[in-house]
Amino acid sequence: MSNEEQWLQVGAAANLGEGSMMGIEHGDLQIAVYNVEGEFYATDNICSHAFALLTDGFLDGDVIECPLHGGCFKIKTGEGMGAPISENIKTYPVRVTGGTIEVRVS
Ligand code: FES
Repeated sequence: MSNEEQWLQVGAAANLGEGSMMGIEHGDLQIAVYNVEGEFYATDNICSHAFALLTDGFLDGDVIECPLHGGCFKIKTGEGMGAPISENIKTYPVRVTGGTIEVRVS
């Protein structure tokens, strides 16, 4: 098995403009992909507090705010930014290959 197989193709970078985000599913994984000032990032899409999809929330710069109780995370590190969040979320490496966003899932 080559390392290439660990990169999941998300879609065209041109379709995810600055300040936007999208959710993808891969098996049991739900991942959120963001464009922050032209750089792409990925985190778990499910809030660590209860069950909500972060991509249903609000993206403010490099911070994602959960739609359910307003918990916030730093997109670049997955770090929770205070109550009600007590657990960080996972981040995933992202690259762009030939105009396609790819997320490393394993
Ligand atoms: S589910 Fe996200 S803050 Fe409660």
